[in-house]
Amino acid sequence: MTAIDNRRVDARDKVTGRTAYGADRVPEGLAYAMFATARIGKGRIVSVGTTAAEAVPGVRMVVTRFEPGELGEGSFVMGGGHGFQSFQPLLGDRVAYRGQPIALVVADTLVAATEAADLVTAEYEVEPFAVGLDADGATTVVQEEAIPLPFLADVKVGDADAGFAASPVRVEGTYEHAPQHQVPMELISSVVEWHGDRVIVHEGTQNAGALRHGLARQLGIDAANVEIRSPYVGGGFGQKNSLQPHLGPLAVVARRLGRPVKLVLPRPQTFHAASFRPASRHTVRLGADTSGKLLAAVHEVDQQTSRHDLFPCTATEVTSRLYGVPAFRGRQRLVQTDVQTPGYMRAPFESPATFAFESAVDELAYATGQDPVALRLANDTAVDPVSGHPFSSRYLAECLRRGAQRFGWADRNPEPGSMVAADGASIGWGVAAGAYPCNVAPAVAHLSASADGQVTVSVDGHEMGQGIRSAIALTVARDLGMAAADVVVLVGDTRVAPQHLTAGSWGTATALPAVQSGLAELRKHLDVPASGDVDVAAAVAATGRDAVEVEVTSQAPEMLERSRAGLVAIAGPEFGEFSSFSWIAHFVEVRVEAGTRRIRVPRVVSVADCGRVASPVTAASQVRGAVVWGIGAALREESEVDDRFGGFLNTTLEEYPVPVNADVHDIDVSFIDEPDPLFNSAGVKGLGEVAMVGVAAAIANAVHHATGRRPRRLPIRLEHVL
Ligand code: MOS
Repeated sequence: MTAIDNRRVDARDKVTGRTAYGADRVPEGLAYAMFATARIGKGRIVSVGTTAAEAVPGVRMVVTRFEPGELGEGSFVMGGGHGFQSFQPLLGDRVAYRGQPIALVVADTLVAATEAADLVTAEYEVEPFAVGLDADGATTVVQEEAIPLPFLADVKVGDADAGFAASPVRVEGTYEHAPQHQVPMELISSVVEWHGDRVIVHEGTQNAGALRHGLARQLGIDAANVEIRSPYVGGGFGQKNSLQPHLGPLAVVARRLGRPVKLVLPRPQTFHAASFRPASRHTVRLGADTSGKLLAAVHEVDQQTSRHDLFPCTATEVTSRLYGVPAFRGRQRLVQTDVQTPGYMRAPFESPATFAFESAVDELAYATGQDPVALRLANDTAVDPVSGHPFSSRYLAECLRRGAQRFGWADRNPEPGSMVAADGASIGWGVAAGAYPCNVAPAVAHLSASADGQVTVSVDGHEMGQGIRSAIALTVARDLGMAAADVVVLVGDTRVAPQHLTAGSWGTATALPAVQSGLAELRKHLDVPASGDVDVAAAVAATGRDAVEVEVTSQAPEMLERSRAGLVAIAGPEFGEFSSFSWIAHFVEVRVEAGTRRIRVPRVVSVADCGRVASPVTAASQVRGAVVWGIGAALREESEVDDRFGGFLNTTLEEYPVPVNADVHDIDVSFIDEPDPLFNSAGVKGLGEVAMVGVAAAIANAVHHATGRRPRRLPIRLEHVL
């Protein structure tokens, strides 16, 4: 069989600047838009002053209010809709949160639009508002009562409270996680062009289907007249997972003006224009016998949401599956605050949840005098303790053993503060496990083999840097024994296939099984054997046609129907007779400098079980990127709130620091690479999010080992380790 070049198929175009992102589009006659935004935390708009803005040369339009007939309300993706929130600004006089748009300016140039937006003034009636979890006026609801859906009910296995009370060893702690923002490199942006009754949107999104149907609904037009093109996304991480409130207004002004319009949100506006990782607080209680065998666990979560939507929390979905604990009680509550609706940010619940839970497991190791790796191995389970069914695959123990070996864990002195570097820095070694549910969405794959030897694959998926194009191209190349460069991959485009949300680490597990069935079908139509290398050009020529095309669909028809309507349609992680999760173990070394107490992360060892590795280069890159996120989550990133002002205050990359190269050192990545044939025919599980789960916990555990201080809040700051 032909050796396959594993390189990222889009690498050359990306590094040479040939890859075109949404905002790179510059159609003839383009106009530029810019929002003016609210400068109060909450209230009512009394009047908006636009005279100065309208006087700026080149300004074509300043809109402060759209009519319901031309722009409809938004809808919430987790409530059967298409947007990250139900609230649509510029439809009424409400200011629901600081940073919300209050006017939209359109001008001939970006400079004029920006200057005019700055000149918009407003008078408000300010109302009391609350942003933090503990602010006056923040109100708490019990999730399972407020949203009675089975997968949002609290996990209850056995009597965890009685089990905890009766346990010989007990640890308990409360952990806090700051709100955070995704800050992908590509800013939120759209170019909207009308061609008669048809509207074409160029926008980096993870969910072209939701944009199509959500925009059609807001504009009151047929979805057949909406086309979304998103061939490349410059980073999504959940920020771009649905329709955002900028697009509807943009489409309306483009139609009114009769010109294409571009909007690129400045970085500070992105902190209020899309979802974010909500603040959360976790109380964890672990009961065990004196050997460290878990007897009971309780995990209670309060998570921030907005006033207008209940963004649900599934934090205990993974913490209830990490170990074979016979009694578990989860409790998830939502705290309503005056912000835009929060949402999914890489490992949305799982990273904060495991920070809390895996910190508690580390405490239990100290309380029982057990090694943290040995304690985790002793609590391993092949059975999902929640459903009682086996896991389709679980190589967590192998991840822990291999990680310990690659890291050199055996040399660890467990005594906190006992390991000191030559320069006086305290050395800390920490470990944590992670898990992420395996979900899958429906997909339609269209494959076309042409007489020139190319194979074109049109399928559901969005390329946001994670490497889905490479995974698809390599799957075709390996199957047919052809060059990946001769595989054309069309994704993120509503013209080629239904484009379901690409998120939740289900992209590969969604696209690849469909592509694989498509390949089997293609082989039949080409009249070639079911396996082995294929000379595509010759096989097509032998059929006497220019091209041979096949189309296959995966998953249940009702899921496909939802997907075709731009709605979320996923299955998992429980599949009748089994449950599917991806697993990972992270080992981290920190150095806490003697004088400054600055915390550095010189090395990380991560071993992942994501089923079969479809694209080794992009998979390793995803894990390295996720570890960098974990460093950010643990040590850097915090969206600052102040209840005197509302909103988020540090809305630039200077004030919202993410890890830079100087923060990133050795990251050793390896994979178990065992296929999971129960989960799907391709044997692939998700990777993008599990890769981050547990990183922050391992860093926190390492900080404890270095300093003897147990971090209870992320991000960890110098003052926590003085
Ligand atoms: Mo991901 S946070 O589900 O895009």
